[in-house]
Amino acid sequence: MASNNFNAVAPVYDALAGLVFGNTLQRAQRAALPYVPAGARVLMVGGGTGRLLADLCRLNPAGLLITYVEQSDKMMHRAQKRAVGNNEVAFMHTPIEDAAIATEDFDVVITPFILDCLSEPVLGAVCTKLAKSLKPGGLWLHIDFSLSPLSPWWQHLLMKIMYAFFSITAKIGTSRLFPLNAYFAGFTAVAAHNFMAGFITTQIYRKD
Ligand SMILES: C[S@@+](CC[C@H](N)C(=O)[O-])C[C@H]1O[C@@H](n2cnc3c(N)ncnc32)[C@H](O)[C@@H]1O
Repeated sequence: MASNNFNAVAPVYDALAGLVFGNTLQRAQRAALPYVPAGARVLMVGGGTGRLLADLCRLNPAGLLITYVEQSDKMMHRAQKRAVGNNEVAFMHTPIEDAAIATEDFDVVITPFILDCLSEPVLGAVCTKLAKSLKPGGLWLHIDFSLSPLSPWWQHLLMKIMYAFFSITAKIGTSRLFPLNAYFAGFTAVAAHNFMAGFITTQIYRKD
């Protein structure tokens, strides 16, 4: 069952993100793409309108086997129109919780601004599933907002405003970011890129 619904915001999502963050959300996501090896099997979860999918396929014009899991049909509809070159893309219109994903099937998992939308029990189940879906040595490219008690006030405020907005427009089932460290046990941090004074991070983890 869907834990949120981004259909209402799908037509304006990219424009809205640009209005608030300029191109920073895209830059953060693009920073992950060079870590995708040629010929990789890639699981992209919550890719929205597919901008990252198009970027990935521009960088790798052929040879990738991509599974694109997105639960909003309006988002998915947009993603399906993206140019993917000679890569193979399997679109799965379903919540990742319900997706039939094989164990140790993927070289790369990408979670771009999706885990912040999930409530704690769903988040736990999803992270366990994604970790299992990776082959040993596979990479988890995680791009998202990041807050700590030491983060500046404006980051906490902006996060609160975003949660208030998306709880109304997309009915997301959480109003705060959960720490993810526990879910990355069994992984080694390989690299991290920070944007907006650490408010947005691109983290690269390798499965041990
Ligand atoms: C905040 S948007 C980010 C979209 C895109 N990654 C971007 O950064 O432009 C979150 C996306 O994740 C999708 N999503 C949320 N929960 C999901 C779930 N449980 N399974 C699959 N997709 C999900 C939403 O439909 C939405 O498209």
